[in-house]
Amino acid sequence: MTQVCIIGAGPAGLLLGHLLRAEGVDCLVLERQSPDYVLGRIRAGVLERVTVDLMERLGLDARLKAEGLVHDGFNLADGERLIRIDIAALTGGHVVVYGQTELTKDLMDACGPRGLEVVYEAANVALHDVESDAPHVTYEKDGRLHRVDARIIVGCDGFHGPSRKAIPASVGKNYEREYPFGWLGILADVPPCNHELIYANHERGFALASMRSHTRSRYYVDVPLTEKIEDWPDERIWDELSIRLGPDAAAHITRGPALEKSIAPLRSFVFAPMRHGSLLLCGDAAHIVPPTGAKGLNLAASDVLYAAQALTAFFKRNDADAISGYSDKALARVWKSERFSWSLTRLMHRFPEDGPFERAMQVAELDYIASSVAAQTSIAENYVGLPV
Ligand code: APR
Ligand code: PHB
Repeated sequence: MTQVCIIGAGPAGLLLGHLLRAEGVDCLVLERQSPDYVLGRIRAGVLERVTVDLMERLGLDARLKAEGLVHDGFNLADGERLIRIDIAALTGGHVVVYGQTELTKDLMDACGPRGLEVVYEAANVALHDVESDAPHVTYEKDGRLHRVDARIIVGCDGFHGPSRKAIPASVGKNYEREYPFGWLGILADVPPCNHELIYANHERGFALASMRSHTRSRYYVDVPLTEKIEDWPDERIWDELSIRLGPDAAAHITRGPALEKSIAPLRSFVFAPMRHGSLLLCGDAAHIVPPTGAKGLNLAASDVLYAAQALTAFFKRNDADAISGYSDKALARVWKSERFSWSLTRLMHRFPEDGPFERAMQVAELDYIASSVAAQTSIAENYVGLPV
């Protein structure tokens, strides 16, 4: 028997597990994959303040502080020039570039020393009686069926996990938009072409210049969903990036062999409610954003902040109101981040159905942003992270 059973040991599950443990709430984490598999996922790493604050609060921010890159701005590009969004001047804040893999590793490394129990390679996790006050979870491991009785279950099991599906279709509502392109990403041990990120909308399509450190770069170009990664040798990717990022950036691109390259689809997705009976959902289990706004990890963090507050109130002060209010509170921030991510995706990508007029509107909007502090402030306050 435990107080909270968390499903999923990605960033959401581990952040929540550590927060609950620190508050003296008994919890157990069940993860389908192995630790190496979880760490093998390549994910964005632009951290908003909410994420940095949680790591600080947990005392797990040492490497983040030592290795994270503080960015005071980022750039939009239209194929000719860079339009810098001065986050620091416009919001007084900044973002920190620190790979999600590193953040997950910091959380994983702390599980043993802090007594956070994670069961890896837990197969066929299934949720039972989530509408009751005595739900339980079953899973298989070492050839045996195991049962975990808990008062609350929190689904941190990502888009493909079982938790969201444990909420009856009569209760849940899906909001979804799939995009008609994917992002082809390349990871290489070469210095970044710019000290800040560049999001480009070129005549030929979207490109993003990002990084993991001063010596490791992460780049993307958007491609039709029909594209196959085997049709994209490294040189073809570097050539396309050099065109789409514009001449200034291209002049500073250092080419090198891909450590990893893959094509990922983009979608906007929200499932409501994020709580049903004794089940709460956090992170990708409840919502997906296109990576354009770098919101995925940071939305998982704000969900976890709200869930930890609610569960601590419930278990330590016998106050059930916060749990009742969790879904509305989390969704209020989710929807605003979904809007920003969707809006920036529409501004920065060429859509197949778009004609010359739509292109002209994108160019005009970028030109307006270049000339308007008000427009830049709106983008900056969304990118740096809306209040929690
Ligand atoms: N049983 C147990 N664990 C499961 C199951 C299952 N049936 N299905 C999925 N999981 C695990 C996955 O293996 C993964 O480790 O749940 C975890 C979910 O982690 P993420 O998908 O990383 O989601 P989340 O923790 O919400 O973090 C969101 O991760 O995917 C990125 O872009 C996303 O940056 C965002 C962040
Ligand atoms: C990344 O570095 O992988 C990255 C950065 C910013 C984004 C998306 C991905 O918006």
